[in-house]
Amino acid sequence: MGQTNEQKLYIRGGRQLNGEILVDGAKNSALVCMVAACLVNDGSEVRLYNIPRLTDIDIMIEILRKIGKTIEINEEYIGISGCIADCDVPIKLASKIRGSIYLMGLLLGIVGKVKCGLPGGDKIGPRPIDMHLSAFEMLGAKCEMMDGRVEGVVIKELVGRHIYLKYPSVGTVCNIMLIAANAKGKTIIDNAAKEPEIVDLANMMIKIGIKVTGAGTDRIVIEGKGNIRGNVDYEIIPDRIETGVFLASVAMTGGEILIKNAITRHNFPLLAILEECGTTIESNGEGIYLRSNGILKPVNVNIMPFPGVATDLQPIITTLATKCIGESVVIDYVFPERFQYIYELNCMGARIERYSNILKINGGKKMYGAEVKGNDIRSATALVCAGLIAEGETIVSGVEHLLRGYVNLENKLISLGADIVKR
Ligand code: UD1
Repeated sequence: MGQTNEQKLYIRGGRQLNGEILVDGAKNSALVCMVAACLVNDGSEVRLYNIPRLTDIDIMIEILRKIGKTIEINEEYIGISGCIADCDVPIKLASKIRGSIYLMGLLLGIVGKVKCGLPGGDKIGPRPIDMHLSAFEMLGAKCEMMDGRVEGVVIKELVGRHIYLKYPSVGTVCNIMLIAANAKGKTIIDNAAKEPEIVDLANMMIKIGIKVTGAGTDRIVIEGKGNIRGNVDYEIIPDRIETGVFLASVAMTGGEILIKNAITRHNFPLLAILEECGTTIESNGEGIYLRSNGILKPVNVNIMPFPGVATDLQPIITTLATKCIGESVVIDYVFPERFQYIYELNCMGARIERYSNILKINGGKKMYGAEVKGNDIRSATALVCAGLIAEGETIVSGVEHLLRGYVNLENKLISLGADIVKR
């Protein structure tokens, strides 16, 4: 599994990328499905296939072991069994990943109480948890935030309700689904997020016997207190963000790529942008092919909840826009402060101006290699992509962030023809 170190990537830009790859399982699906697997609390096993071996997954394994679960790790799957024996997720562990927030919904539902450190994750601006806590309270729990953690307790019993979300927050929807599995009656979520990872969670919950309908639409209904059972296998969907990184990289460098296991409907929002830029795309149910001559037209991109373009791709799309000849505009409505990489790109020769959550990119100018640092998963990715199109050598530090988000990103790029050395 992943390792943290002080290594850097040395990238020589200007090479075309060509070839075929398989992307790994979706990190954000994997994290929440690992927690959902713990809804099976009778000792029997849930086997999750296609879990990407990332440092964030290592932390989740550590958390699940801490609360008493048995985790078997092998080449093919992660097996989750055993019974929950502890409802305390220490701050030290919880603060390392955003996905730790799902332990709140799980443990309130199963144990009726929880002590959980505040979640961490990428530093991409404020990441409040008010919607999570108010949903828990609506279903019958009382939650207090104190000294870097949340303490929650079910007052009498959890009872399903109709919950309208003021914003389609991915994490809030997942957490409601997890707690609602142990609430009496039906929980209805309106204005639900529609991300593919939520559909994946619903499919996994259905597999273990929970009745969930409507995932992928803006109304999800969960029937609690069902007959939850283990001895189940479930395969996580391929990562659409990793898919997007490779498609955008080849669009920028020129060349052709086939991502053999990408699911087209998960990637439609990005495919539309890449076509607008002038690349050729062929896709069927499974597998996406892209061809680019590296000469790109500018784009206007609104980053929105799915089926809008994913905020996790925003830094990579901005990097793509530096290659598009003319003015592109990128507006992020999801995380309006997720712009920690702009200074670095401008140091490399990009011309990006920021006005609140709006970026104007005067693209098509030459980029030059520089020594730059990524501060979160997607910023670091954007700088690697910039290195692929820059003249000369780009040295990217902050490589530990890449280990949180991708399995062997640099090796996959090297297999496509990139000149990257890690040392
Ligand atoms: C998840 C993903 C993250 C992705 C994001 C949006 C995981 C582990 N992380 O994060 O990679 O970028 O979805 O697709 O799956 N908000 C509130 N109050 C809340 C919760 C959220 O105001 O209680 C706001 C956030 O500040 C943000 C917006 O809602 O502006 C979207 O956040 P949300 O969809 O919840 O993202 P996460 O679940 O944190």
